[in-house]
Amino acid sequence: MTYPRYTPLAQSLPSTVPFVGPETQERQRGAPFRARLGANENVFGPSPRAVAAMQAAAQDIWMYGDAENHDLRHALADHHGIRPDNIMVGEGIDGLLGYLVRLMVGPGDAVVTSEGAYPTFNYHVAGFGGTLHKVPYEGDHENPAALFAKAAEVDAKLAYLANPDNPMGSWHSGAEITAAMDALPEGCLLVLDEAYVECAPEGTALPLPADDPRVIRMRTFSKVYGMAGARVGYAIGAPDLIAAFNKVRNHFGMNRAAQAGALAALADTDWLTHVTAEISTARDRITAIARDNGLTPLPSATNFVTIDCGGDGDFARAVLSALIERGIFVRMPFAAPQDRCIRLSCGTADDLDAFALALPDALKASRG
Ligand SMILES: Cc1ncc(COP(=O)(O)O)c(C=O)c1O
Repeated sequence: MTYPRYTPLAQSLPSTVPFVGPETQERQRGAPFRARLGANENVFGPSPRAVAAMQAAAQDIWMYGDAENHDLRHALADHHGIRPDNIMVGEGIDGLLGYLVRLMVGPGDAVVTSEGAYPTFNYHVAGFGGTLHKVPYEGDHENPAALFAKAAEVDAKLAYLANPDNPMGSWHSGAEITAAMDALPEGCLLVLDEAYVECAPEGTALPLPADDPRVIRMRTFSKVYGMAGARVGYAIGAPDLIAAFNKVRNHFGMNRAAQAGALAALADTDWLTHVTAEISTARDRITAIARDNGLTPLPSATNFVTIDCGGDGDFARAVLSALIERGIFVRMPFAAPQDRCIRLSCGTADDLDAFALALPDALKASRG
């Protein structure tokens, strides 16, 4: 009988999934969720112009997409006032993180991140055999100074920082990160994940030139552009680093309809303004609901609000389970002490009505 001959690295990997998807949870619970507020998707949806472009492109789906993402890269370059050779388009930030780690991290190579930060990065590092070193959050913020000091200590090749941060919704100004980068050791690349930056206050994006060799920035159409299912993200960096992705990426990995949709979404600035306003209204409503129930909402620069449930991780996990039982899909931070919180994505008025209705009951059940 034959058998698969896994590499020693693959054999050593645990069967982890960074995030169990809501569809999986719905199958497990045998019922759909009433409100889908756990994955930081954008319930306000994509630009109608993006939808039309994807519908039109559906006719042409027999063709592979443009392997160079030429039009989208050029449009993004114009949008950011940089050059197309500063941009790599890929299958969401998650896909691009995988390529980046594959390019830079081999077995035993050191990498740094924050304890409890975005886990898909960690998943890729483990998948290529890297060694992950973690620093704690400071309050509920990622701590760039501690991150870069740890990077120097362990000779890290990559330092991962999300700004704004998931799961806490906290943020630093771009100027603070720039200043902290003076301590970034030579040979360590800052992976700055700016997935939520379009909903953050002015001045949050890193104000450095795209050619700066110390940093690669990650952006996505999954959040404020409302296209998570299309899987379109992009990296901004120095041209030689961007070109290196061509050695490992899946050249025909981009969906043709998604390419057309992203191009149309980028051009529809009115829709972006509309969505940003909806997100801001929803953040205020979540904040109010949390306070009405005696909980502490944390300030957010993202399309979600993290809510301190006022107890320990076990209590927050109980609240989370009780909400899920009541049909409200939410998630929570993985690591203590941030796991005293639950995390709620911005929803429609209807979604948040459902949350407002379920929360008092869920809290009662968790306390009881
Ligand atoms: C910090 C952060 N980075 C990346 C992603 C995923 O982005 P994408 O959909 O482009 O893979 C998420 C999604 O929740 C996120 O929170």
